[in-house]
Amino acid sequence: MTYLDPGDPQHFATRLRSAFADRYGRAPAVVGRAPGRVNLIGEHTDYNRGLVLPVALPHATYAAAAPRADGRVRVGSRQQDDEWEGTIATAGPGGPQGWAAYAAGVLWSLTEAGFDLPGMDLLVDGSVPLGAGLSSSAALECSVAVAALAVAGVTLDDDTRARVVQACIRAEGEVAGAPTGGMDQAVAMLAEDGSALLIDFDTDESRPVPLPLPALTLLVTDTRVQHELTDGGYGERRADCEAAAAELRLPSLRAASLEQVERIRDDRVRRRARHVVTETARVQPVADALVAGDREELARLLALSHASMRDDFEISCEELDAAVAVAIESGAVGARMTGGGFGGSSVAVVPDERVEAVMRAIDTEFALRGFTAPAHLRAEPSAGAGLVG
Ligand code: GLA
Repeated sequence: MTYLDPGDPQHFATRLRSAFADRYGRAPAVVGRAPGRVNLIGEHTDYNRGLVLPVALPHATYAAAAPRADGRVRVGSRQQDDEWEGTIATAGPGGPQGWAAYAAGVLWSLTEAGFDLPGMDLLVDGSVPLGAGLSSSAALECSVAVAALAVAGVTLDDDTRARVVQACIRAEGEVAGAPTGGMDQAVAMLAEDGSALLIDFDTDESRPVPLPLPALTLLVTDTRVQHELTDGGYGERRADCEAAAAELRLPSLRAASLEQVERIRDDRVRRRARHVVTETARVQPVADALVAGDREELARLLALSHASMRDDFEISCEELDAAVAVAIESGAVGARMTGGGFGGSSVAVVPDERVEAVMRAIDTEFALRGFTAPAHLRAEPSAGAGLVG
């Protein structure tokens, strides 16, 4: 069985400091950390001004940084062979490609947002699985932002955190070319230990929802079906939602009722909009059911959410459907796919004593069906980004 341990932050920081010294010949000044996330409910609702309920993972990306006097920037990763080199001015749109766009692009967008950053060397490492729908990209952006701002002597207060969220969204959209909605960067910067984060994208307000989860585990299964938000499917869903809002003459689908949505002419656009409206309506009830420990209600709402993503929004796949079905058959309270879709991960709410059985049952089913072996992790609600050590 593949079980992904988050690793100890101090251990990561120590290892990263020595890798940094080996590579760049000097010690880093700071190490920043930003978590991946798993979304419990509210999928593809963020860019429709809806509600979301993500949890920050204990799995995180770490970024070590040291300033340079010559204005140059180098960005390396312990997981990647290539290194990007340039300046903050050349780290914008059309500059760095691939993974480096997420890292270096943030230096550009922070500068655009008015922060005065020096040149710097950066090295990243982490425990967030890549392409698993667990926001390794937002974790990368936010860890770099935290390290870069510390190098520049900027204090990470609430106002700065909010500006970092916007700068990271901008880097992901304009430099990396992924038109994402903002949930991932918001939870990476704003989450509180032990809580989920309820975010309302209509008012841009968020509040922690404490999740003691007595006797329950949030079990995440990475199907190992790779997902890329730059592939087109994500952008197509977003375009359909915008078309739906335009047809209804509304600023966004947040303002739409189910009756209005059912009048949309095109079948596909109608189903996309129906998912968004019904999904937003499930967010507060799921938060309430989690807090109250209401297992029946959780089961019902998570099942409705998964069916809506599978049938109306069409972002699930065989492996996700299998992981969800088997989790429930083998003792989970409820389960659904999570994240952008087209692969990635499922999340299940599982009684503690059933976690091992659920993981094994999913592994067995995947092996029988000839799927790549999945990986599992426990999503203990964790804190947002900060400095380590
Ligand atoms: C990705 C995006 C988010 C959000 C989810 C779907 O993770 O980055 O902004 O749209 O997909 O809920």
